Parts: sequence; structure tokens; C-alpha cells
Amino acid sequence: MENFSFFSKAFTCISFLLLPFLISVLCQNSSESPVGGPPPLAVNTRKLIFKDKRLAVVYPVIQAFKKTITADPLNRTGNWVGSDICNYTGLYCDNPPDNVSALALAGIDFNGFLLAAPTVQGFIDQLPDLAIFHANSNKFSGSVPDISKLPYFYELDISNNVFSGTFPTTVIGLKELSFLDIRFNSFTGSVPPQIFNQALEALFINNNDFTAQLPENFGSTPVLYLTLANNKLTGPIPRSIGNLNSTLIEVLLLNNKLSGCLPYELGFLKELKVFDVENNLLTGPLPCSLACLEKIELLNFANNLLYWEIPEELCALGNLVNLSLSDNYFTKVGPVCRKLIKNGVLDVRRNCIHGLPDQKSLHECAEFYFKYIRFCPYPATYKTIPCRPNAPWHHHWARSKKAPVTYKTLSRHKF
Ligand SMILES: *[C@@H]1O[C@H](CO)[C@@H](O)[C@H](O)[C@H]1NC(C)=O
Ligand SMILES: *[C@@H]1O[C@H](CO)[C@@H](O)[C@H](O)[C@H]1NC(C)=O
Ligand SMILES: *[C@@H]1O[C@H](CO)[C@@H](O)[C@H](O)[C@H]1NC(C)=O
Ligand SMILES: *[C@@H]1O[C@H](CO)[C@@H](O)[C@H](O)[C@H]1NC(C)=O
Ligand SMILES: *[C@@H]1O[C@H](CO)[C@@H](O)[C@H](O)[C@H]1NC(C)=O
Ligand SMILES: *[C@@H]1O[C@H](CO)[C@@H](O)[C@H](O)[C@H]1NC(C)=O
Repeated sequence: MENFSFFSKAFTCISFLLLPFLISVLCQNSSESPVGGPPPLAVNTRKLIFKDKRLAVVYPVIQAFKKTITADPLNRTGNWVGSDICNYTGLYCDNPPDNVSALALAGIDFNGFLLAAPTVQGFIDQLPDLAIFHANSNKFSGSVPDISKLPYFYELDISNNVFSGTFPTTVIGLKELSFLDIRFNSFTGSVPPQIFNQALEALFINNNDFTAQLPENFGSTPVLYLTLANNKLTGPIPRSIGNLNSTLIEVLLLNNKLSGCLPYELGFLKELKVFDVENNLLTGPLPCSLACLEKIELLNFANNLLYWEIPEELCALGNLVNLSLSDNYFTKVGPVCRKLIKNGVLDVRRNCIHGLPDQKSLHECAEFYFKYIRFCPYPATYKTIPCRPNAPWHHHWARSKKAPVTYKTLSRHKF
């Protein structure tokens, strides 16, 4: 972490070197618990000089947590001694918003520290000025503490730990929360709809065991990056996803059990660059509205139950670098799409397209069309292209090759 203000989501660089004065405070024997609850475990209370009384308050909390650490193979907590808390490895201080002359513990970055502790309860929830907790790739367990009373908290990353239980509902209602990353843990059960009412910018809950349906208010959070991949989510993609027309950039829903037809409203997502729903149970035709995804680079519908023709207007999108439709039941491709097959952008292997190599057997295709085809709701919408009713297709052959951001969420470690 560089020298930025922890209390500003915009990462404005407020220097905290020029404190107007340094305050000495004697550590009290029994410091009051900062945000209520029982006081931390008794710790050695030698008289120490702290730069600010807020640091004196968190000192016993930190020392009590240190005692619960059962493994620290990289000796990251080796210098957690004495009053200079702001110099402890992994801890960062800053001037809090309510008093810019004060100095407080603002951020914790344990990414990759490999620490083990049975819980972080009684730790992060007892640090009243904490804004950021990053703890990718540690061995913290238990349930997520109630941080709902921390007024400045906005980034929680507890990815790749051994947390379990239900979705950490204590983050619901945290007004400032903008980044929530709980991927690669063992959370189970449903994803509470209220989380989608928060003003998140990134939500990464992939690689857990969530089993819920996506809630109707799915499209209520102005999120830019959404990774729900590798869970057991069911049900259709809610139509409200279209409300994210000015925000959503990358969506990873691959390897779930999503079903139903694709909503026409997908075509409203004009900022969308990556949309990946590989390996689900989605069915129906591809809505022609997808031709409105002007910025789309990667579209992956592979291994679903999609059928009928591939819209030529979709293949004409100028920024597409990868359109994967393999392992579905499409029957028809036109000349624009054939061009994409030829230059390796479009993959239609294992479909039902007569005359192309590597297709499903006639028997398998006939059986599917005979048995499984159901009509989608709002059938008229499937042909509508909302953004450009009469516009001619544009071809831009200068395709962007920048790697998408969120695929990195599918590997365990920090990105
Ligand atoms: C603090 O602890 C010291 C000795 O450890 C003791 O003499 C003193 O009375 C204590 N003060 C309070 C306020 O408990
Ligand atoms: C851990 O770090 C501390 C301070 O940096 C050092 O004094 C101590 O010797 C280290 N311990 C081990 C086991 O390396
Ligand atoms: C922080 O610790 C380093 C050595 O680990 C030391 O050089 C530096 O002076 C310390 N900073 C403060 C503000 O005490
Ligand atoms: C702000 O913090 C400084 C340093 O801790 C302290 O001396 C001052 O009293 C605080 N001001 C208010 C209004 O709390
Ligand atoms: C985005 O969607 C909202 C509501 O769904 C709508 O009011 C707004 O006009 C749309 N904005 C754009 C730029 O399409
Ligand atoms: C397209 O995306 C799929 C799925 O992510 C991937 O397996 C494939 O290698 C990609 N193809 C190209 C040409 O980048």
C-alpha cells in the first residue's frame, strides 16, 4: 500500500507526515473498549508513549489479537512490539476524517501473510477508525465480526481464508462499503438481497458454496465488477441487470446452475466488456439486443442449452475478441459470424450447425429440439435491437487485447 489517505475512497494523497504536533499519552491500565463490547484480554500494560491517544486505545486490541495468532511463518508480526503501532508490519495509520490532527489506525493489509488465527472477532471490530481490511491468503476462520459500527470502513477483502457459515450479513448497511471480496472461502446458503442495495463498486463472492437464486433487485447496486462464479447459484438472470446500464463492466457467472432465458435487458449494458456465463443451464435464443454491447470484448455462453440462430448483428460488434458459443444447440450462422469463426474469435464447436466440423450428432440435436425447447417469456423482445434500429453495422478491426480484470478473481491469490 502506498502513501494514500485510507479515509478517502478516491485515494487522494493526503500526507500524514506533517502532524502539527505529537501527543504523548500514557497507556491506561484498563483502556475502554473502543466500540462497546467486552474489553480486550488483559495485556502487558507497561507505560508506553503513544503518538496519539487513538493509538493507545487500539494497542491492547492489537496485542490481544497477536496472542491468538497460531501461525506466522513469515514472522510478519515479529515487530509488533512497542508503541510505534504505525510502523508494525501490515498496519497503516492516517489522519481520521473527524479530526485531521489526530492519528489513527486506518488500514490493515495482511495480504499473503499466511497468518493463522481462530477468529478476527474482537480485532477488526474493535478498531474504531479502521477503513480497510485486506487479508487475502491467510488462514483466518470463524465468522466475520460485526463491523457495522465502524463509520469509515469501506474495503473488506477476506478472500482465500477458511471462513465459513452464512454470508457475512454484518456488512449489510455499512454505508461506505464499496469493495467486498469474500471469494475462496466456505460460505454457504443464500446471498442476501440487501447486499445488492449497497453502493458497491466490486463484489467478489466466487468460489464459495452459495446456493441462492439471484434476487430481483440484483440490478440495484451500481457495481462495476461482479464475480459470482463457481458457486451453486440457481434461477434466471434477473431482468433488473439492465439497470446497470451505466456502470457494469465485467460479470463472471460461470460454473453455476443458472437457468431460464437470457433477459433482453442485457443489451442495455453499454459499458460491459466481459460477460461470462459458461457452464450453466441457460436456455432460449440469444437476444438480438446483445448487438448493443458496443464495448463488449469477451462473451462466453459456452456449455449451456442455448439454441436457434446466432445473430449476425452480434458478430458485427467491433470490439469482440472472443465469442464462445461452443457446446450449445445453435443451428445457424451467417456470413459475418463465419468470418469470426475463420479468424478464431467465434467458437461454435459442438453445436447443431449443418456443414461445420465438430458438431453434435443429428440424433442429439433432434432429441433436444423435440424434448427441451420451451418458449421464453416476452418472445417479441428477442428480435429487437434497442440501440440502433436502422443503423448499418460498423466494422472496427482494431480489436483491443487488454486482459479483463475480473478473471484474476478466479485464482486464489491477490490481484
Ligand atoms: C495500573 O497498574 C499499576 C501497576 O501495574 C497499579 O499500581 C495502578 O494502580 C494501576 N492503575 C489503575 C488506574 O488501575
Ligand atoms: C521475527 O522478527 C523480529 C523483529 O523483526 C526478530 O527480532 C525476530 O528474531 C524474528 N524471529 C524469527 C524467528 O525470525
Ligand atoms: C519504522 O521502523 C524502521 C525500521 O524498521 C525505522 O527505521 C523507522 O525509523 C521507524 N519509523 C518510525 C516513524 O519510527
Ligand atoms: C484532535 O486530535 C488531537 C490529537 O489527538 C487532539 O489533541 C485534539 O483534542 C482533537 N480535537 C478534537 C476536536 O477532538
Ligand atoms: C439506464 O437505465 C435507467 C433506468 O433503468 C434509465 O432511466 C436510463 O435512461 C438509462 N440510461 C442510459 C444511458 O441508457
Ligand atoms: C475464449 O474464451 C474461452 C473461455 O474463457 C477460452 O477458453 C478460450 O481460450 C478463449 N479463446 C481465445 C481465442 O482467446
